[in-house]
Amino acid sequence: MRLFFAYWPSPSKAEEIVPWVRSAHALYGGRMMRTDTLHMTLAFLGEADDVAAQRLAEACVQWRLPSGSMVLREPGRFPNARVVWLGPSAPQPASLAWLYQANERLWSQLTPLGWRPRESAFRPHVSLLRNAGPGELDALTGPAVPWTPERCVLVASRPTQAGSRYTVLAEVALESAALS
Ligand code: 2AM
Repeated sequence: MRLFFAYWPSPSKAEEIVPWVRSAHALYGGRMMRTDTLHMTLAFLGEADDVAAQRLAEACVQWRLPSGSMVLREPGRFPNARVVWLGPSAPQPASLAWLYQANERLWSQLTPLGWRPRESAFRPHVSLLRNAGPGELDALTGPAVPWTPERCVLVASRPTQAGSRYTVLAEVALESAALS
């Protein structure tokens, strides 16, 4: 299995992202992310066995991470992975500081346990499409989605013929960024 930590939207917040998924699909084709799998990865850990996953699930319930407000409205692409995504924007970059702090605090907990980042930089995003075709991103528009994450979860991703199957293994407590 592969492990990752992610902010997970409520079902109603995920529904607010769906118009972006549909518009992106109409423009670029590919495979739409199912509504119940929309999320923002905070840390991707890669492959792990059952024992390592169990240890991490037990450890992370002691942690606390910040949450704060963001507005999802900036589409982007990872061309090599053929992913089209929706990212956060803020009137002032400083107002998203809590999000980058969440990523840093998570890794400061993970590193002593032997986990190492797989990515050089944190690029916060919610993937909308996989196997997307080409096309100008300027064409992709949609309603701004204000989001204050209420859940951060440790997820196991297992490959199946129908795509990845996600299982929530544990939940990390969140605190308001204003208090952290
Ligand atoms: P993505 O949405 O951009 O594909 C499970 O795969 C989650 O971990 C996805 O949100 C995925 O991001 C993220 N992730 C980050 N780095 C990854 C990597 N190197 N391989 C697979 N998934 C990765």
